[in-house]
Amino acid sequence: MNCSLNHAYDVEMATRLLDPADTRVSHALADRGGLVVVDSGFHATHREELLTYLEARLPHLPTHTITISEEAKQLDTVLDICRQAQRRGLARRDVLVAVGGGVCCDVVSVAATLIRRGLPYLTIPTTLLAQVDAGIGLKGAVNFDGSKNYLGCFRPPTAVFVDPGFLTTLPEVELRSGMAEMVKIAMVRDADLLRELRRHGPSLLATGFRHPPDKGNALIERSIMLMLDELAQNPFEETELRRLADFGHTFSTRFEEASRWQLRHGEAVALDMALSGALSVELGMLPDRDFADLVLLLRDLGLPVVSPLVTHSAVREGVRAAVLHRAGRLNLVVPERGGTAAFVTEPSVLTSTVISRALERLTEAARRCQAALPSSSPVVSSA
Ligand SMILES: NC(=O)c1ccc[n+]([C@@H]2O[C@H](COP(=O)([O-])OP(=O)(O)OC[C@H]3O[C@@H](n4cnc5c(N)ncnc54)[C@H](O)[C@@H]3O)[C@@H](O)[C@H]2O)c1
Repeated sequence: MNCSLNHAYDVEMATRLLDPADTRVSHALADRGGLVVVDSGFHATHREELLTYLEARLPHLPTHTITISEEAKQLDTVLDICRQAQRRGLARRDVLVAVGGGVCCDVVSVAATLIRRGLPYLTIPTTLLAQVDAGIGLKGAVNFDGSKNYLGCFRPPTAVFVDPGFLTTLPEVELRSGMAEMVKIAMVRDADLLRELRRHGPSLLATGFRHPPDKGNALIERSIMLMLDELAQNPFEETELRRLADFGHTFSTRFEEASRWQLRHGEAVALDMALSGALSVELGMLPDRDFADLVLLLRDLGLPVVSPLVTHSAVREGVRAAVLHRAGRLNLVVPERGGTAAFVTEPSVLTSTVISRALERLTEAARRCQAALPSSSPVVSSA
């Protein structure tokens, strides 16, 4: 006997997605009912556009706006969505629509998993980070009792629509956070993308991804393709508990928790990438020159590479937590050269001496390119 399960969904690049003449989202919903869950930041900047679209194309769909912050990424927010769904009488085939950043997509995914044992949902990611990562995959999660993403699910969306035009209103600090995920996938998969980010990243950041024309869309699309390719190899993380896409995601969780959610996700990923790069040099897997390039790129994109949160004990704690999460293996992703990476499987490889030397190397590299966090950063002042 066999029960084979197939999951496939489309991620579509779009422009002017909320133009009332555009039928993509309304076609994806067909004649079904549902609930549109809107990110408060997107609502504040695109309210008219969204409401005009819904009135024209999906007048029967109610909206529910959720206040977005990492603190609000909790079961309560999910339960609010469930309550709205119940009040509106959503049926088994009705659809939840997430319109927002990574937090919004994460909580909608969890709510969609719970309501009636699973409703379909589609995502319209509106931050850079969600467009290249959080809003295009099949994982959803909420934080629980101070633990990042402790409760969550694997539930593929039915469709994803990515419109980089939404990024023009995104604060630069949020764009930078999203850039970290682009650097992540480029570092482990694509030396060309890495070169393009070096060349065009600062200008894209300064112009809401508008300049150079077409580069923003092309680099987002490339990042998405690479990410989907990574996800497709082991979508439910059942065959192996290791993924190249986890570069920058071993210690970052600890940093986010220790900062009490003051550190953005992408900032924590940047700190982790720099640290993993330094560890890779110490293990003889990455030339020092390539490490210096990584640190420089992060600096040029306005991302942190050092912080008082990155300590010897935080690294050890990150190793311990990773081993728990990855069934006894460390599976730390370390860059080898730009565009390729390897796994460090055994935790014992990261001896006290290796960690200490890596931290010294990191501090020295940051000093050389003055890539430390600005002194006004809450992460620096509270640590
Ligand atoms: N599920 C996954 O696979 C996955 C992967 C990576 C990250 N994540 C999660 O994603 C979250 C981070 O996502 P994020 O970086 O999008 O942050 P976020 O969701 O907190 O959004 C950042 C800010 O941008 C605002 N915003 C959204 N769209 C906007 C727009 N177009 N214009 C202006 N403001 C807008 C939001 O209201 C918020 O204030 C973290 O919780 C992280 O754990 C999940």
